[in-house]
Amino acid sequence: MKVFNTIKEMRELLDTHRSNGKSIGLVPTMGYLHEGHISLLNKSVSENDITVLSIYVNPTQFGPTEDLDSYPRDIENDKRLAENAGVDIVFIPSDSIMYLENHFTYVNVNNLTANLCGSSRPTHFQGVTTIVTKLFNIIQPKKAYFGQKDAQQALVINRMVKDLNIPVEIITCPIIREKDGLAMSSRNKYLNQEERGQATILFQSLQMAKNIIIDGERSADIVKSSIQQSINSKSLAKIDYISIVSENTLEDIDKIEGNTLIALAVRFGNTRLIDNLRMEVN
Ligand code: PAJ
Repeated sequence: MKVFNTIKEMRELLDTHRSNGKSIGLVPTMGYLHEGHISLLNKSVSENDITVLSIYVNPTQFGPTEDLDSYPRDIENDKRLAENAGVDIVFIPSDSIMYLENHFTYVNVNNLTANLCGSSRPTHFQGVTTIVTKLFNIIQPKKAYFGQKDAQQALVINRMVKDLNIPVEIITCPIIREKDGLAMSSRNKYLNQEERGQATILFQSLQMAKNIIIDGERSADIVKSSIQQSINSKSLAKIDYISIVSENTLEDIDKIEGNTLIALAVRFGNTRLIDNLRMEVN
């Protein structure tokens, strides 16, 4: 496994691989790897000749009061996990490599970024789409792997690639969960024992919503208020949003039908957790 902190030499190696007809898969991450990230790496390793893992805590996707400085980091452990997963190249750039002094160019996907996480994190997706575009241009992968855990991010990147004719195939992989249902996240580390115990309510509430819909309920308001009640039964939970949207537009729906996404964000103390559920409803 080769580790690069700068672009030029990595590009030369990738150019050689490409001219030898090797396919390149990219898994972009912010590090502090867990089994969710590993599942993306496994998929890329199984589908490509060369897998590139990028680890970069991208400052432009954090708001001014968010956790950029405290975001968990453990590069040595990440490298071990990457090596075990069969990663060929790890790209770990610094801020000065990724953002030159006069960085004036940003990529924005409109509409899809207005709702859900976009309303409480207004500059977040611009940061994500800009850094992901840069990574696509630097690495030029054939395929890139994203998690359904960040459902809105995956949809926004899919849209961006279509709208801008970026020649990369986006593969969205299922959410990997702890045994008790909590979606794996680097931010779970922030939770104290009591918060961690209560955080399972996110998955439980989504499962409950799914059952209500399977039983025939089609009113988004009724399903949302059941989720709200369920989450509010936990003393430390503070709801940021609960949304039921069409997966195509990410706009709120009144009547649940077609490809539906139920997405939520809930704070436990200073930690903001997200989770979601997709359903095809007839
Ligand atoms: P990060 O939070 O490190 O996540 C990297 C990738 O892992 C994302 O595609 C995310 O959806 C996926 N992932 C995280 N938890 C997962 C889980 N429990 N199951 C399955 N996949 C999971 O998302 C980012 O970084 C950044 O925004 C990034 C795309 C790297 C741009 O900076």
